[in-house]
Amino acid sequence: MANGYNPYQEMLEVLDEAAKKLGLEENDYVQLKYPEREVKVAIPVEMDDGSIKVFEGYRVQHSGVRGPYKGGIRYHQDVDMDEVKALAAWMSFKCAVVDIPYGGGKGGVTVDATKLSRKELERLTRKYAALLYPVIGPEIDIPAPDVNTNAEIMGWFMDTYSTLRGHLSPGVVTGKPIPIGGSLGRGEATGRGVMLMVREIAKKLHLPLEGAKVAVQGAGNVGGTAARLLHREGCKVVALSDVSGGIYSENGLDMDEIMDFLTAQRGRLLKDYDAPGLTRISNEDLLTQDVDILIPAALENQITEEVAPHIKARIVVEGANGPTTVGGDRVLEEKGVVVVPDILANSGGVTVSYFEWVQNLQSFRWEEEEINNRLENIMIKAFNEVWNTAVEAETTLRMGAYMVAVDRIVTASKMRGLS
Ligand SMILES: NC(=O)c1ccc[n+]([C@@H]2O[C@H](COP(=O)([O-])OP(=O)(O)OC[C@H]3O[C@@H](n4cnc5c(N)ncnc54)[C@H](O)[C@@H]3O)[C@@H](O)[C@H]2O)c1
Repeated sequence: MANGYNPYQEMLEVLDEAAKKLGLEENDYVQLKYPEREVKVAIPVEMDDGSIKVFEGYRVQHSGVRGPYKGGIRYHQDVDMDEVKALAAWMSFKCAVVDIPYGGGKGGVTVDATKLSRKELERLTRKYAALLYPVIGPEIDIPAPDVNTNAEIMGWFMDTYSTLRGHLSPGVVTGKPIPIGGSLGRGEATGRGVMLMVREIAKKLHLPLEGAKVAVQGAGNVGGTAARLLHREGCKVVALSDVSGGIYSENGLDMDEIMDFLTAQRGRLLKDYDAPGLTRISNEDLLTQDVDILIPAALENQITEEVAPHIKARIVVEGANGPTTVGGDRVLEEKGVVVVPDILANSGGVTVSYFEWVQNLQSFRWEEEEINNRLENIMIKAFNEVWNTAVEAETTLRMGAYMVAVDRIVTASKMRGLS
């Protein structure tokens, strides 16, 4: 990854600190420093012009101590093994924070998905699913969408797995289209969870949501949904960005209109959106806007040691995985910026993925209201556990979240023993 940044090393630093705060011996948690299984595959794909291109794909299964491995699949040109290893480990901690019976895994393919046609994406997905077939399954490892993957891709993935298995097997992936076993509420779940965490932290810090100024980096599944829901809660979303740059409006952006525009067609970007009173900003400008709440919801390595001193937000709620580096985090703590960490803030997605999987295994459907209520209950409970742990240990919410997670995994591991 860029500038010597290694997300896996960053994860290890945070893990060691949390273990120290919990008073653990190295023996208690050393296994969490090593993913249980790392798979690398070569994916040959016939392109529309008849040529064959081979893409590198990964699946990392970090910890299966608390349940089947669970985690998304990312299609991005910067995907490499260290990134997937970090994302897999973060999934283990995330599932433990919200106390759902999963371990952590993650997958990725090194590909610029925006350069592939829909048919090429389908062939890539089907071949990748076939290559992973021996190591995944509803009771083994259950993928889901992540950056540049969506419900349609999950549908292809599930179809290929089911064909090889010889029967329909919807529980092998989550985030599927609703008619083939997807769950109501899953599309919005991660963004909804981010909105809930904004609401909870704002309450704790006595910041009224009505009129609170928000900047969101990333206008995809997580950032776009969170921005839209916060807009509906009365927040003023003044800045939003995507890979093509950012937009700013002093009076607040019309998030419903923007999201309708972006989702109307595959590949639409913010640079093509216009409205009266709107100014163009860079992604770095977005992070340093004068706002109350900043939501990084794109990629890792955004709030670095260099950017963090210029951040003006009082609250950062991490929609993305790993958006703040360890160095950036230290600066934010010194400045008194409160950070709701990724493993808690974006856990709404995996929580409703868990509901989808439970519905698939039972061949049963829940109503959307029930799903949203259950999601809210789980996330608020997790928020309070993390908050109380952090207050008691006189530490940050990130450390609090890791302490809750590591303690749960280590306890389960001790009860199981090494076999
Ligand atoms: N989808 C989920 O359910 C889920 C769950 C938990 C965490 N996450 C995490 O949230 C983040 C976003 O995932 P997503 O599912 O919304 O992906 P997505 O592909 O739907 O959207 C990603 C967004 O980020 C933008 N982006 C990409 N590179 C950028 C850059 N350099 N600067 C600014 N914007 C950039 C894209 O243009 C797009 O708007 C990732 O870190 C992902 O791991 C996703």
